[in-house]
Amino acid sequence: MAAGNWKMNGTSPALSEIDALFEHLSADGPEVLICPPATLLALMTERAAGSELKCGGQDCHVAASGAHTGDISANMLVDAGAEYVILGHSERRSDHAETDAMVRAKTETAWVAGLRSIVCVGETEAERDAANTLGIIGGQIAGSIPDGATGENLVVAYEPVWAIGTGRTPTLDQIGEVHDFIRARLEKRFGEGVGRSVRLLYGGSVKPDNASEIFSVSNVDGALVGGASLKAQDFSAIIAALR
Ligand code: 13P
Repeated sequence: MAAGNWKMNGTSPALSEIDALFEHLSADGPEVLICPPATLLALMTERAAGSELKCGGQDCHVAASGAHTGDISANMLVDAGAEYVILGHSERRSDHAETDAMVRAKTETAWVAGLRSIVCVGETEAERDAANTLGIIGGQIAGSIPDGATGENLVVAYEPVWAIGTGRTPTLDQIGEVHDFIRARLEKRFGEGVGRSVRLLYGGSVKPDNASEIFSVSNVDGALVGGASLKAQDFSAIIAALR
């Protein structure tokens, strides 16, 4: 799976980027998703209609509706054509003080609305330097993922905070260590069958020139891509690396 997170980038002219992606998509190819800013979501799903491109949101509120000025509900994302929602991205955790408990509650809300959740976890550089990476990831996995996870409703993205937007990536061994650990935790909690079926994405400075080697790591089922998803040429090269 190749998932693009456009973050707070793009106004309507940026939608033309997706046109160049369509030829790289097929029903038997890798699943491809873009999560644009909320203002572009409905426009993007209309433009992608009839193609294999899926669209998603970047966050949703924990409540189904109500007096929450400026927020977006899971049902609104569905109404705009979303099939997925990214939850607990490190930028949400730091910019909006989102806790594991909030991410877990949002994930439950998203499931009720019929969305699939991409739950993000990842350590800071200080946490890695303190040899605490697996402790942090274990806590985030336990705290952010609700009971009832399946391979259909959950995707987990491992995004080391220090690798996001920096051009730095962990070694392949470091990526493999964390992905194996997440897989083992999911199998232990949800059973082997479910744990094996949840897709695990790596995110953080994935580019056309490092995508193939990252995809060769065990338990890496794809990527959550920020900057390189904004340009069709780069994102299509990453999609091609999944084939
Ligand atoms: P970059 O690919 O720009 O490092 O961003 C990764 C990310 O945060 C995707 O959610």
